[in-house]
Amino acid sequence: MSSQQTYDFVIAANRLPVDRHVHPDGSTEWRTAPGGLVTAMDSVMRGWESGAAWVGWAGFPGEAPEPFDDGKLRLHPVPLSGKELSDYYEGFSNDTLWPLYHDVIVAPTFHRSWFTCYRTINQRFADAVCEVAAEGAQVWIHDYQLQLVPAMVRDQRPDLRIGWFNHIPFPPVELFAQLPWRATVLRGLLGADFLGFQRPDDARNFARSCRAVLGATTKGDKVEWAGADDGRLGAAPRTVRAAAVPISIDASGFRELADSPEVQARAEEIRESLGDPDVVLLGVDRLDYTKGIRHRLRAIGELFEDGEISPDQVTFVQVATPSRERVEAYRTLREQIEGMVGRINGDVSHLGATAVHYLHQSYGREEMAALFQVADVMLVTPLRDGMNLVAKEYVTARHDGGGALVLSEFTGAAEEMPQAYRCNPHDIAGLKETILQAIRDEPAEKERRMRGLRRRVRKHDVQTWAQDFLAGLAAAPEKPGRGGSK
Ligand code: ADP
Ligand code: F6P
Repeated sequence: MSSQQTYDFVIAANRLPVDRHVHPDGSTEWRTAPGGLVTAMDSVMRGWESGAAWVGWAGFPGEAPEPFDDGKLRLHPVPLSGKELSDYYEGFSNDTLWPLYHDVIVAPTFHRSWFTCYRTINQRFADAVCEVAAEGAQVWIHDYQLQLVPAMVRDQRPDLRIGWFNHIPFPPVELFAQLPWRATVLRGLLGADFLGFQRPDDARNFARSCRAVLGATTKGDKVEWAGADDGRLGAAPRTVRAAAVPISIDASGFRELADSPEVQARAEEIRESLGDPDVVLLGVDRLDYTKGIRHRLRAIGELFEDGEISPDQVTFVQVATPSRERVEAYRTLREQIEGMVGRINGDVSHLGATAVHYLHQSYGREEMAALFQVADVMLVTPLRDGMNLVAKEYVTARHDGGGALVLSEFTGAAEEMPQAYRCNPHDIAGLKETILQAIRDEPAEKERRMRGLRRRVRKHDVQTWAQDFLAGLAAAPEKPGRGGSK
């Protein structure tokens, strides 16, 4: 029995909320980890009253640092070797599951050795969770990198109440069925008592996959599986709930930040440094092929070429956070995007009037809030996105009533934000028209739309999301102590 301190609430996510960066001179620095998961859970945990533990990777290969405290949160780093990083994270998580779960925008790669490594690392996370979870604790497991963890935890600790939330889409069974390990993944997930998804369609896709692949039965949000007599992972019968719980942002915190004099002053400075154009268009994304950055650039490039907009009046700022840079599809994407930006600027910019400003960098929350204030039109045009928090951050930051949001219908956010200028990013002609409409509509019309959007985000913020998820977990049918999965 270890003398490890245990917690009543445990989070498991691929990343810790902070990443350790090692500078060339050997000095180290902890920075906020990238992505929507950390943005959301960080806000939730800042308001958390009691102690909690977060199990995750510290953002660099090799030995993991000792557990440490970050405010009330105890961080438990999980080690990943260079090879494991390549096979579990870059390989199976981001070159198999990520494209498969995002409509096969690029072809997923299937390697048996990657899956073997994914299973090993999921077991490592499960063991770490079991070590820090107190008797009867609630465990909240996150995202596609940890789909086997629910059953692995349940096998060791049937006393725990286990929830899993998917930050990305869950694919239709016609795509999911391609996965050679589809049954193992579903059996891993069914270890949870409650499974949360971004959209009702994602929850339905999961339930359909359970029916088609495992022969489970479903009624409403309940999934029942009779179990298997094979002694493998998740073999016991299971009854679980799967429902939509759309994620959101810390709306009041972000609004306060955007309203601060420092951010306002920085926004003015940014606008001036851009040459005080009439219209600033903005894109803010991780540099990911799911985000539709190429389609966006194509539409904007054509609008400049057609003479519909001129760099004397309009400028487009694209902020692209570096992401998964050792995965081939991401390297190719970067080259393509940088080529497109260069071509557009070469063809249509002139001295003192730059058509596209491209920043391949990460920024702090203040800089993000200032950029949003500057943006007259925000372009959120993913080909597929679980939710997209940038859309929600933008409308919250623009509480001055200005701005306009162009939003892809293939985002989870589109379901909740009907007042946005909706677009199909694959339809370049349609996208161009929508961008022009968002630029040219009367201010009163834009204000009407933004009011509705802001209201929605204010009412459904990140705290509501966490409360809804935890209420779903508490009401889940399987009682702690019943039905280990072996
Ligand atoms: P994903 O989780 O796929 O990265 P989301 O839009 O849901 O996409 O969340 C992205 C989060 O990362 C948002 O909170 C956004 O403000 C932040 N972000 C995006 N780009 C940058 C950047 N260049 N610098 C800092 N933060 C960024
Ligand atoms: O929600 C999708 C997601 O993969 C999160 O799990 C993650 O925090 C974010 O995007 C950023 O991705 P990565 O951790 O691979 O840099």
